[in-house]
Amino acid sequence: MESFARSQPIAGADTAPSKDATLIYRQSRWTRLTHWLWAISLFFMLLSGLQIFNARPQLYIGKESGFTYNNTVFAIGAENTATGPRGYTEIFGKRFDTTGVLGWSGPAGQETSRAFPSWATIPSYYDLGTARVVHFFFAWILSTTLIVWLVASLINGHLRRDLAPRIDDLKRLPRDIIDHAKLKFHHTREYNTLQKMAYGGVLFVLLPLMIITGLAMSPSMNAVLPFLNDLLGGRQTARTIHFIVMVLLVGFFIIHMLMILAAGPINELRSIITGWYRTDPPAHDGKSSERSV
Ligand code: HEM
Repeated sequence: MESFARSQPIAGADTAPSKDATLIYRQSRWTRLTHWLWAISLFFMLLSGLQIFNARPQLYIGKESGFTYNNTVFAIGAENTATGPRGYTEIFGKRFDTTGVLGWSGPAGQETSRAFPSWATIPSYYDLGTARVVHFFFAWILSTTLIVWLVASLINGHLRRDLAPRIDDLKRLPRDIIDHAKLKFHHTREYNTLQKMAYGGVLFVLLPLMIITGLAMSPSMNAVLPFLNDLLGGRQTARTIHFIVMVLLVGFFIIHMLMILAAGPINELRSIITGWYRTDPPAHDGKSSERSV
């Protein structure tokens, strides 16, 4: 298993020493492999999940759903108005016109009533069965990938060295926020505090919560782990949490992409594809400049 020295390349098939001191081996092959596996899995799970949502485009809190209950917190639909059909999105009873994207969409003259538009779902046409097969297939890949990432990161030290929070991280937080706000990026071996928080939040909060709420919705899992449903406030609440986690992951993804673009996409992409990353040259006092991305 690979291990890292602070700015020393590691011996190994894909880690031939570099003559350039600022080029370091930063991401192990396990980090890279699992990163791309969960990125691909999440892509398919998002689009197939939106198709599954389209089959019943409302979210509720509690165990029950239906006309006799007043527990809808989110809905996407279409309604007839004096000017023709309009799409709407309703959040806690507040309605927004989302015609063209949510509720009522399609090519001009061929619009139909569907919650998420065809370009945002897999398959693009209505097919709940296929969407479920795709969703569950990638759910297994994602869950296995996370376990592989955890075991590899414990063994190769990635978790302890790169992601575990330290007292220093707290002290550095205000400066990190200011640096990010000024789009001032430092390229070092270590993740900065905001990165640790974001990656830790995704890997230890959002993705596990996504898997647990997914399991809580599965009837076969209800038989194996009946307490899971109650623990999450009922099947409908589990579905609502599952959806909220999806929105948070999409938010993470957008910020992740913006940060990569701002920090230097070639260098960032090289590190998550090949492992090699170019750090800032050492400052005059001999120390490398301190913070990263
Ligand atoms: C849903 C999709 C994605 C998720 C959930 C995700 C999540 C993450 C996480 C958790 C890490 C830290 C991994 C670790 O240290 O073990 C990471 C690192 C990274 N990701 Fe992603 N990622 C996604 C998509 C992408 C895509 C599409 C790209 C490239 C275009 C990308 C580029 C990177 C890079 C360059 C790093 C390393 C950042 C650094 O070393 O400073 N990610 N990502």
